[in-house]
Amino acid sequence: MRTPILSYPTHAHGRRETSPATKAGTVTGWSSRAAFIAAAVGSAVGLGNIWKFPYMVGANGGGAFVILYLAMVLLVGLPILIAELGLGRTGGAAVTRTFGRIAHELRGGHLWNAVGWLGAATAILILSFYSVIAGWALAYAWRFSLGSLQGLAAEDYSARFDALLASPAEMIFWQLVVLGAAAFVASRGVRAGLDRAVRWLMPVLAVLLIGLGIYAAIIGDAAAALHFMFTPDFSALTPEVALSAAGHAFFTLSLGLGAMIAYGGYVAEDVAIPRAAGWIALFDTLCAIAAGMAIMPIVFGFGLDPAAGPGLVFVTLPVAFGSMPGGALVGTLFFALLVVAAMTSIFALIEPMAASLADGEADRRKWVIRLTALTAILGLISVFSFNIWSDVRPWGEDKTLFDWLSYLTTEVSLPFGGLCVAIFIGWVAPRKTMEHMFDSHFAFKLWLLSIRYVSPIAVIAVFTHLTIG
Ligand code: TRP
Repeated sequence: MRTPILSYPTHAHGRRETSPATKAGTVTGWSSRAAFIAAAVGSAVGLGNIWKFPYMVGANGGGAFVILYLAMVLLVGLPILIAELGLGRTGGAAVTRTFGRIAHELRGGHLWNAVGWLGAATAILILSFYSVIAGWALAYAWRFSLGSLQGLAAEDYSARFDALLASPAEMIFWQLVVLGAAAFVASRGVRAGLDRAVRWLMPVLAVLLIGLGIYAAIIGDAAAALHFMFTPDFSALTPEVALSAAGHAFFTLSLGLGAMIAYGGYVAEDVAIPRAAGWIALFDTLCAIAAGMAIMPIVFGFGLDPAAGPGLVFVTLPVAFGSMPGGALVGTLFFALLVVAAMTSIFALIEPMAASLADGEADRRKWVIRLTALTAILGLISVFSFNIWSDVRPWGEDKTLFDWLSYLTTEVSLPFGGLCVAIFIGWVAPRKTMEHMFDSHFAFKLWLLSIRYVSPIAVIAVFTHLTIG
């Protein structure tokens, strides 16, 4: 029997209030364990899975990289995922108060709340450019659904993408549509908004992924894709590759900014956190592999470049969709998949701030609107980086403002946040904070060993590699 160590008001049905700040009587937790896992997988599965993972696999040794990546998920990602979910369940979803509540017996314990503030601020900054990219995906879904991208010459596809990037008005329009939809869901609250949305969006995502994978296998070159993704080339494995695998394990599980802390704050007492974390990591990995098997057969079947990087999704793949049978429909569905994957990640990017600032239902709507408006304004930095400010490169010629925003958030702030979480839960917080969440003492010891030594060392290695190397 798991017993809560810090007690908060309990709802009539045994569900704990998300945080003491929430008005008593409102049902705010996840409706079920499945809904919680769907929401967390929705946060984890995003642009990182759909274009970055397949491309990384191909560039870094195929099956050998997949094995290494799985090891990193188990050694680095899973322990921190368990820690974040457990932190949230113990200290509440309001990430700017979670740490202080758990460390309230320690002198200066509330100073750890700074980690929550940093995470919540990082989430809004990430959202400011993530929603721009989600807007591109929405624009492409719209264009394919109109059939206006069919049968163009190959070079026209890059011209179309360049034209989108050159138009601030168009980019702002699509970003606002994305943010408006996300704000609508987020403002309705956890149970009536997020929970309901992910319960139908995640099955849609699964059907789209599987459907596109099957069509890709029929129309493309599945054998070449399998060979590219899974033939192990152990000679390609270098320390660099191990570090990028660790970094990606971290990013893809949405760690380091409090998203999983917030989501953990809405979990009922009877859900076994370590096991749920295992399912989340497994589904995230399966989605990444499925995305690879939906994209790579098309890339090889149509003689495209698998290492095209960021342009792969918006320039290279449209060439194939534009010429294949049923391409308008397939293109529409593919970009709809991307929009759904991004949308369920966007919910998780709003949540750390929303949970921290809002006090009750009506207040939540107000804060979500404010946060969305702030995000849209910050989003202008990213939008203008591709056109009127493309020459603004304040620190070095190779990085635009968009590049800096993405670099400082995902490659500096996220690993730093993850490191703080590992140190806090492994060394600072009382041991009983997490112990009761494990079924077996052995599992707890194993987790403690990882969170105290393995995860911090791995994160420091990634951190120094990314910032200095
Ligand atoms: N995991 C997401 C992806 O793979 C990206 C991401 C990183 C994220 N950190 C997050 C999403 C925090 C939501 C919340 O694309």
